Amino acid sequence: MSQFQLDILKKLDELNEINSTLTTFPNVKSQDVLSALNSLKAHSKLTYTKSDTIHYDLSKEGQDIIDNGSHEIKLVELINKLGKLQIKDVMTQLGPQNGKVGQARAFKNGWIKKTPENELTLSDKVNLEEQLVDETKEQLIAIQLPNQTLGDKIINDLKKRKLVTPRKETDFHVIKGSDFSLELTKLETDLTSEMIATNSYKDLKFKPYNFNSQGVPTQSGALHPLSKVREEFRQIFFSMGFTEMPTNRYVETGFWNFDTLFVPQQHPARDLQDTFYIKDPSTADLPEDKTYMNNIKAVHEQGKFDSIGYRYNWKEAECQKLVLRTHTTAVSANMLHELAKNPRPARLFSIDRVFRNEAVDATHLAEFHQVEGVLADYNITLGDLIKFMEEFFAKMGVTGLRFKPTYNPYTEPSMEIFSWHEGLGKWVEIGNSGMFRPEMLESMGLPRDLRVLGWGLSLERPTMIKYKVQNIRELLGHKVSLDFIESNAAARLDEDLYD
Ligand code: PHE
Repeated sequence: MSQFQLDILKKLDELNEINSTLTTFPNVKSQDVLSALNSLKAHSKLTYTKSDTIHYDLSKEGQDIIDNGSHEIKLVELINKLGKLQIKDVMTQLGPQNGKVGQARAFKNGWIKKTPENELTLSDKVNLEEQLVDETKEQLIAIQLPNQTLGDKIINDLKKRKLVTPRKETDFHVIKGSDFSLELTKLETDLTSEMIATNSYKDLKFKPYNFNSQGVPTQSGALHPLSKVREEFRQIFFSMGFTEMPTNRYVETGFWNFDTLFVPQQHPARDLQDTFYIKDPSTADLPEDKTYMNNIKAVHEQGKFDSIGYRYNWKEAECQKLVLRTHTTAVSANMLHELAKNPRPARLFSIDRVFRNEAVDATHLAEFHQVEGVLADYNITLGDLIKFMEEFFAKMGVTGLRFKPTYNPYTEPSMEIFSWHEGLGKWVEIGNSGMFRPEMLESMGLPRDLRVLGWGLSLERPTMIKYKVQNIRELLGHKVSLDFIESNAAARLDEDLYD
């Protein structure tokens, strides 16, 4: 028990009740009084009622009026002493501010009058034998009393004259509780089996439940917005009969990332400025499939399967170089090569991380995620690709697509996909797509009539739109705030995605 708690109990013991903690313990903050009372109350030592009162603190001027009288009284005393006073001397005698107030109030009270010579004298009604009532001083004394009954008008006037400032005070009226004593016994918080077995619970005192206390917030994990949107995409793919490709290999050979995709070895995308190369180890083995390797060489150098090739000297060493994959199409190529072992229609997708040696800005990072799908079926055409894209994006509520021819080394024809962005008032690119080249597929051993369409988009773009993130660095990387991740709602890829 604290000394203050003991003081409270002693006072109660002595007086039976404490009418006002404010007068009994004037120097203790009401917050501290409250917490001491509450813990004693929990032990049934006391009960209390609380009341808020307004206390009026005196300003320096207010205190001076109480000590030395109001300005008007001072002025009357001065005039009385001198017999009369030039108006212009009032300010020099009492100070400019006080002089003005004193003079005005003395006139109002009818204590002074003005002579034609601009002098102040006492008015006839002032009887010097009798003490004048100093109203201001009386009011200031009265307002300090605990149960003051000054009317609002007077109080407002004193406030306006800046003689007092109000301050809220909390007062407590305290009486003894059902278990009053000067000691505190420790309260039990838990009923144990031992207490029941020994019957000791009958004599013990238990702490009352506090039903108002707030529980400790439970800690829980939170999914990153990218993970939530990724899951939405996965569900769309699953609903369309796709299976997920294994995308755990961030590091690929140049072969799978570029050569198999018909990206020539001198293509700018293979430059150090665009692609991250691995230093140690810097190379890896190539596929055992010799026919495949020879086909790739032939396709690059002089062309095969009806193509004319790039007509340059293709080097295996370039293929062996290890890179951080720059697109998930490296994975798709690998899976199509697998498919060639048992050619059949297939629907495959992946959503994972890719790396590009890019200048980082508000919309670009050196690593991001791609959503990619490939669909293999007999004799499908560009018309199927367009129709399929319309179906896929419609699942996210994105309709009215437009397609624009573009170039990818591994697809022909290739199309960028655009959707109308209501907010920006323009067409925005939302994906890239195409029909994989026959020389790429036939190199792997896929039959000529089993054709493959593919498309890709970034996961960040729709996520940024969905979560209204302007800067990609707020979404991915070390600048992401945990609060942003914890507080965001689940994602739904619905109508307003690209609006
Ligand atoms: N790899 C392409 C990109 O990075 C996307 C794509 C995948 C295009 C498959 C066509 C076919 O943008």
